Amino acid sequence: MKLENIKLNLDTELVLNVGDPIGKTNAPRCYNKLFERLHMNAIMLPCEIKKGELPKLLDACRLMGIHYLCPTMPHKSDFVDLLDDVDETSKLFHSVNAIRLDENGSHGSGMDGKGAVKAMEEGGAKLNGINALLYGAGGISGVTAYELAQSGVKKLYIANRTPEKAERIAKLVNENTAAAAEVIGTDAASLDKAAESCELFANLTPLGMKGFDKKHDYLGFIDRLPKTATVFDCIINPPLSETITAARAAGLNTVPGMRMLVAQMDVIFKFLFNQTVTGADKQACIEELCNYLGVPSNF
Ligand SMILES: NC(=O)c1ccc[n+]([C@@H]2O[C@H](COP(=O)([O-])OP(=O)(O)OC[C@H]3O[C@@H](n4cnc5c(N)ncnc54)[C@H](OP(=O)(O)O)[C@@H]3O)[C@@H](O)[C@H]2O)c1
Repeated sequence: MKLENIKLNLDTELVLNVGDPIGKTNAPRCYNKLFERLHMNAIMLPCEIKKGELPKLLDACRLMGIHYLCPTMPHKSDFVDLLDDVDETSKLFHSVNAIRLDENGSHGSGMDGKGAVKAMEEGGAKLNGINALLYGAGGISGVTAYELAQSGVKKLYIANRTPEKAERIAKLVNENTAAAAEVIGTDAASLDKAAESCELFANLTPLGMKGFDKKHDYLGFIDRLPKTATVFDCIINPPLSETITAARAAGLNTVPGMRMLVAQMDVIFKFLFNQTVTGADKQACIEELCNYLGVPSNF
């Protein structure tokens, strides 16, 4: 990766991608590509920090003049209570993935849900007034459900291996949005039945991700979706995941997870750096990431 925009002087902004483990993070590829294209004297580096060490990290950032942090797993939740202010959705679902430290304090925001829904809309999904089927109830699921409700989705079916987690999200959606959320089973019959009325299916789990040893037990419900439906997958690698492949075989519109990653860049760059990211910038991120992962970019 060429980083000719980096001058490595006192003005260079160090942006930390904080997680544990952090070895396989994709974010620095995107951020550093955008810093280069936007002529910003900034660099993102991965930073492995253990759970419980975040207060010390924030103190160290203050001391060293580091103004930007991008938390990933398992820290997205733990940062929330350490910051001076956090937007309402991130408070509700207890998750942030962009932090700005300035003279007015520490400010956090969560962009996963906004990125997922923006990617769906940019990918041609019609959301207003539809039913949607979500698979997963982890960190990105609640915020995605919330943003779908904000975009006009009227009914959300949520399926998850651990139903209690899906119940928690459904309760928050029902109490805080105009959408109705209902938890369903992960068995074939429940998924088949829900799929018949859904214009959107979103996989929000790592099932099928490269390096993750589990796949979906059943994807036959994809054939029950209406022919006008969109299928979204949060998985970045492979871009043509098992979910996306099944949806394409059924002739459905698809939105691979790499689109979610770059769709977040719009909102994150505005929040952190007050910078505007164009479609060409986002395409450059995709090329960079695909080149790094060794996968074709024409997905
Ligand atoms: N494209 C992007 O920009 C982007 C951004 C952020 C995250 N992601 C991806 O999104 C995925 C989810 O992230 P997250 O933060 O929500 O993760 P998380 O909080 O760890 O949640 C994981 C979800 O997957 C389910 N799951 C895990 N293993 C399973 C298995 N063997 N069988 C059935 N269900 C299983 C979990 O079910 P239980 O509740 O039962 O454990 C839970 O619903 C990750 O793969 C991450 O890489 C993508």
